[in-house]
Amino acid sequence: MRDLLSIRDLSRKDVEGLLNESARMERLLGRPQKLLAGKIVAHLFFEPSTRTNLSFQAATLRLGGSVLPFYPQLSSAAKGESFADTIRMVDGYADALVIRHPEEGSAQEAAAIASHPVINAGDGANQHPTQTLIDLYTMQKLKGKISNLRVALVGDLKHARTMRSLLYGLALFGVSPQLVSPASLRMDRGFLREIRKKFGIRPEERGKPDLKNCDVLYVCRVQQERFASRAEAESAQRAFRITPQMLSDAPRGMAILHPLPKLSEILPKVDSDPRAKYFSQAKNGVPVRMAVLKKCVP
Ligand code: NCD
Repeated sequence: MRDLLSIRDLSRKDVEGLLNESARMERLLGRPQKLLAGKIVAHLFFEPSTRTNLSFQAATLRLGGSVLPFYPQLSSAAKGESFADTIRMVDGYADALVIRHPEEGSAQEAAAIASHPVINAGDGANQHPTQTLIDLYTMQKLKGKISNLRVALVGDLKHARTMRSLLYGLALFGVSPQLVSPASLRMDRGFLREIRKKFGIRPEERGKPDLKNCDVLYVCRVQQERFASRAEAESAQRAFRITPQMLSDAPRGMAILHPLPKLSEILPKVDSDPRAKYFSQAKNGVPVRMAVLKKCVP
């Protein structure tokens, strides 16, 4: 495989292979690896990031590669250089490019220009394929399977690339999750049609989650940076919150996941609930991204 731009680039078999490789990488953590020795991976983050940026860096370093960092505010992008020209330059300096950008389709655009592999670390509201692999890996690790899991996706389904990618990833395994959001933040209609047609799954759209028979509650924040108005974002933020009371009805074995960062959609009290697994989910970012780098970087 060369580029990883969208979760659509992967078949179920590819995903299963990457999850197995991630488990192998996790077992090898702490033992120095040489797979990327002599290779330079450019990390181009045009949008804020903590986990994705740092775990991609850690994954590159753990495989023995070097990181070429990029700081948009200190680069010629701040002088107005085009994205295309920046990519052309970096392609000459590195063996692979990891890119996060606020524009949908930017990773695709970069891949059309670059001669080296491009990995999409999030493009606008569109796709975040490596996060989906982390989410699926975490579910498999916690619940022993992905097929037949009862999953609720809760939050800003309109703007969150994590949710769009994950819905597709779950559909690959025949899972029809509950889609829970305020009416104004429902999943993109075109994407939902694509999933229904391709996989024959029928996700149920709801205003409130039904947690009584839920294996995985997956929450994301309101993506305020993608809203036209701040007031609208704030009112959406108030519309749903995961509280300890809400969780009192949920099964004891349910896992609560979140791609992080979390804001007010999960009350801090929930962190001490043994079902809250989002910090170990974030930790899985390193082995999963090691597996992705191994597959993409020649
Ligand atoms: C997510 C993202 O950037 O899309 N963060 C991440 O990569 N873990 C989720 C978010 O910002 O809400």
